[in-house]
Amino acid sequence: MKLLGASLMCADLLHLGQQIKELETANIDFYHIDIMDGQFVDNFALSIDFIKLIKPLTTRPIDVHLMVENPERYIQPLAEAGADIISIHAEAVTHLHAALTKIRSYGIKAGVALNPSTRVEKLGHVIDLIDVLLIMTVNPGFAGQKFIERMHEKVVFSANWLKEQDSQAIIEVDGNIGHHTLGLCHTEGASMFVLGTSALFHQRGTLIENLQETRQIISAR
Ligand code: DX5
Ligand code: ZN
Repeated sequence: MKLLGASLMCADLLHLGQQIKELETANIDFYHIDIMDGQFVDNFALSIDFIKLIKPLTTRPIDVHLMVENPERYIQPLAEAGADIISIHAEAVTHLHAALTKIRSYGIKAGVALNPSTRVEKLGHVIDLIDVLLIMTVNPGFAGQKFIERMHEKVVFSANWLKEQDSQAIIEVDGNIGHHTLGLCHTEGASMFVLGTSALFHQRGTLIENLQETRQIISAR
């Protein structure tokens, strides 16, 4: 499985409606929405109201990446806004079991995001509650960073570890996912790819061309 998602924090917000139209035409697989609180990471990005704004424009999954302290607070409002997947950072939550259970109670897929330095094995006791494992391949918070090379090893390790745990969780990668990293991450076991400035929102082509080119690269593997 290869699902390509548009990271809307990298979109041209002055032309958001037009950009979403193009992404729909290009058959984007999902929308990745980064929400930050200026505490867990030193930045702010999109919001719950932003999700409400784009929800009527698409039927494709809304994949929320919460980079906030105490993410439990936002699960209910995100469910009401129309989130389809909510990923919370293992480093930002005290009661991970309770938070994942709460996400699933709304019929939403539960994800756990891991900073580059966090080991996947710490999720052993909650693995049955995880639908998506979001491996950060840069430090979270900012677009346009460089892929941390050792994250290739982490994707391979995580894919094997999930198999050992008999888990069906799918691996999503986020951060500098572009032509030089995407194919390799797919071979290593990732199936959801967050496309930001590296593969989609750049000036070398239109969104439709950029997505087509990215699909070609991944299908060649
Ligand atoms: C923040 C974001 C970024 C970004 C990815 O976590 O999810 O990682 O959109 O896009 P790049 O790294 O390609 O600019
Ligand atoms: Zn993200």
